Amino acid sequence: MTVPIHLENSNSIEYVIRIDKLPNLHFNSKVAIITNPTVAKLHLEKLLSKIKSKDLSIVTIPDGEEYKNLNTIVNILDNLFEKKLDRKSLLIAFGGGVIGDMTGFTASIYQRGIDFIQIPTTLLSQVDASVGGKTGVNNRFGKNLIGTFYQPQAVYIDTDFLKTLPTREFSAGMAELIKMAVMFDSNFFNFLERDNLTSKKSLEKAIARSVELKAWVVNQDEKEAGVRAVLNYGHTFAHVIENETKYKKFLHGEAVAIGMVMANLLSYKLKLISLNEIKRIEKLLIRHGLPTKYKIEDIELFYNKFFLDKKSANNKIKFILPKGIGNYEVRDDIDRNIVQDVLKQFSEVYKR
Ligand SMILES: NC(=O)c1ccc[n+]([C@@H]2O[C@H](COP(=O)([O-])OP(=O)(O)OC[C@H]3O[C@@H](n4cnc5c(N)ncnc54)[C@H](O)[C@@H]3O)[C@@H](O)[C@H]2O)c1
Repeated sequence: MTVPIHLENSNSIEYVIRIDKLPNLHFNSKVAIITNPTVAKLHLEKLLSKIKSKDLSIVTIPDGEEYKNLNTIVNILDNLFEKKLDRKSLLIAFGGGVIGDMTGFTASIYQRGIDFIQIPTTLLSQVDASVGGKTGVNNRFGKNLIGTFYQPQAVYIDTDFLKTLPTREFSAGMAELIKMAVMFDSNFFNFLERDNLTSKKSLEKAIARSVELKAWVVNQDEKEAGVRAVLNYGHTFAHVIENETKYKKFLHGEAVAIGMVMANLLSYKLKLISLNEIKRIEKLLIRHGLPTKYKIEDIELFYNKFFLDKKSANNKIKFILPKGIGNYEVRDDIDRNIVQDVLKQFSEVYKR
């Protein structure tokens, strides 16, 4: 299966996302694979057996979000200069979203920009991070605040890599996949309800649909001036949950799952979605091992933290809400009391 990307507003960039067995890849240029020790140990041998290049090097960086910073970028750049990569060289991002975001960023600035391809190895990076061309690193002011929009030459998604992925990481990717279905495609949601994705074929089908939906969004709005913001469904709440739990208790996708449940309740209060629909969404999240409960200790504090979000412009909180299953509504005019009413229901060990 292939999904075409066509960005008309960005010099008509075109490339393909391929969901299939990793093909043999031949390059005439120098190639550097950027990976980490976890992924290298499990899968580098397979990748190397597929690549032919006259000059191939491997740059290994430490594993973890805490290394997603400018220091690591400097290390990668130093490695590339030592290995004398030139403007025709190519980088391969081989790992999860952390590797993908940092490799993309490095490719966008090395000698003013060189080519790169994505070979994502987590579910989250296959359905989300590798699609759309956002690159970047964190700093002490926040996550992904330094970065570029920079598209790869190609994305190769091979679900075989996911066999070694820890269950929690897999579930975290499922949250983003379910998010796409709730926002944009009720048939896809029905499919996810019917099929628990245990076969390779249905997993590939689900990934392809999710990628297709994200590509459709990105093709319309690469730089997040409009519809791309809809991908933040659940995230307004998730960012506060992550902040309150100091990024330790939940994986991002887990916080997004709880955030989706909170957004759903807000949507229900605004009569945009039925009780039955929000129950169906929660059931699907739970079936994929995702948390849906969170105890808010201080409602006022939680509410005020919405304003830390870089997407809450002009002191208005932007909520991305499901409008039934398969449709959305973006609102920044919701009365404080209605939002706090929703938060209240999560303050008494989730009394609903
Ligand atoms: N660019 C975007 O549009 C975008 C979108 C969403 C998320 N992100 C970014 O992606 C990052 C999160 O990505 P992630 O969830 O993939 O995390 P990650 O890259 O940290 O990977 C999670 C863990 O799984 C390990 N791993 C990777 N592949 C494996 C495999 N096949 N088997 C076993 N272990 C494996 C990794 O080494 C790591 O320890 C965040 O930094 C986030 O900001 C970017």
